[in-house]
Amino acid sequence: MTRPRSGALVVAIDGPSGSGKSTISRGVATALGLPVLDTGAMYRAVAYAVVRAGIDAHDPEAAAAVARSVVIAVDRGVTTLDGEDISTIIRGPDVTALVSVVAAHPPVRADLVRRQRAWVDQHGGGVVEGRDIGSVVFPDARVKVFLTASDDERARRRQRDEVAADREVSVADVQAAMARRDAADSTRRVSPLRSADGALHIDTTGRSPDDIVAEIVTAFAATEGAT
Ligand code: DC
Repeated sequence: MTRPRSGALVVAIDGPSGSGKSTISRGVATALGLPVLDTGAMYRAVAYAVVRAGIDAHDPEAAAAVARSVVIAVDRGVTTLDGEDISTIIRGPDVTALVSVVAAHPPVRADLVRRQRAWVDQHGGGVVEGRDIGSVVFPDARVKVFLTASDDERARRRQRDEVAADREVSVADVQAAMARRDAADSTRRVSPLRSADGALHIDTTGRSPDDIVAEIVTAFAATEGAT
């Protein structure tokens, strides 16, 4: 029996922070009846595990050893590490400051990519959001999407998230931190943030989430029967 291609029922959604990935991914997943995987939460969970273990985040092998030793689950907005709910702490400043360092280590990425593919195999498909989903993890995804938004809008969205989580920061500070993280994520040697071949590019600036979800669902429907 031939095994279906792993990406046959995958919608890959990539883009920088604040581009709307989480909102759009949830909307597409609901519309298509698929589960959703936030791979950024997985990298954040490893960064948190590294801090908790007190090891040097700049050491690729030590960070990867920590990654391999923990159980990470990401489900409907709740992230657990060895059973502990870390959903709030992984959005805080300590993890946010370190996550790009940890995510740049090739052996950490290898471990998480393996888990992301296993998750899709277990669930029979899904909407997977991140930075390298269409380019590296599921190059054969049914639909690949690359989201962008203006720098101002991305910073405003992230600042709203911060304020909603009781962390008072200015839009200017958010924008500066975001620019640093974007630069690190886009210039790293392994799996940098970039648009995958054949990705649908969508600028979410000033557009309603419903409208964007509808555009992606239409693109998905257009591939039906084509695979
Ligand atoms: O989407 P986010 O801001 O929660 O992502 C956290 C970090 O993880 C960010 O610095 C980029 C990195 N990341 C990655 O390198 N590859 C992914 N597939 C997802 C996130």
